[in-house]
Amino acid sequence: MQTVKSLGVLRTTLGQWRKDGARIALVPTMGALHEGHLTLVRRARAEADHVVASIFVNPKQFGPNEDLDAYPRQLAADAAMLEAEGVGVLWAPTVEEMYPSGFVTNVGVSGVSDGLCGAARPGHFDGVATVVLKLFNQVQPDLAFFGEKDFQQLAVIRTMARDLDLTAPHADNIIGVPTVREADGLAMSSRNRYLTSEQRTAAAALPRAMKTAIAAIKAGAPGAEALAQLQAEIIAAGFSSVDYAVLADATTLAPLAAPGKAPARLLVAARIGSTRLIDNMPVAPAP
Ligand code: PAF
Repeated sequence: MQTVKSLGVLRTTLGQWRKDGARIALVPTMGALHEGHLTLVRRARAEADHVVASIFVNPKQFGPNEDLDAYPRQLAADAAMLEAEGVGVLWAPTVEEMYPSGFVTNVGVSGVSDGLCGAARPGHFDGVATVVLKLFNQVQPDLAFFGEKDFQQLAVIRTMARDLDLTAPHADNIIGVPTVREADGLAMSSRNRYLTSEQRTAAAALPRAMKTAIAAIKAGAPGAEALAQLQAEIIAAGFSSVDYAVLADATTLAPLAAPGKAPARLLVAARIGSTRLIDNMPVAPAP
């Protein structure tokens, strides 16, 4: 595996692959890799000739109250994991390489960015869209893989690719990979490391309560009632507050009172101590 830090070297390496007619997949990350990321890499390996993984802790997606400096950085350990999974190039630009002085462009995807996590983290999805569009243009992949764990992020990126007629990758080749979960159902996340052992045990109440809510909705319970029950359940289990618990259209993320014919999603963000956890699950369409 080649670790590349300059855009010039990246273009030369990928240019050669492209000349050979190879299919290239991109797995964008901010590092601190866990099994969820490695699952993305394995999917990418299965569907492309070469995999480029990027590690870039993107300052533009951190708010003023979010601690960019405290974000875990472990490039050597991450590189070893990526190499073991058969990644060909690790693209790890510096902040100056990504955002040279004078950089002023902002990519905003309104609507789908505004609610849910966007409401609590103003500017976050603009930062994500801006860096992902840059990563797409730098790598020009045939395919790109993102975890469904960050479901709103995936919706924002797909909307951007569709609206801007991207071809590398085409919106249809932005692949969402199902969330990888611990044995007790908790979604894998780099934030789980901040939980105390008591909080870690309590955190499993979130996916449990979400499954219960989805079963209740499927059995005909009103959405609002099932969501109120979900909130009560996770607070009783030890969560301190719920930022949102929403049934939404899976594409636009517009809130729904009940599932219709289009795919729907249950999305939750809740705090346990000072850690904010998010999760989401599909909800079967109405029969
Ligand atoms: O999901 C992430 O790790 C980041 O938001 C991404 C997509 C790499 C953009 O910085």
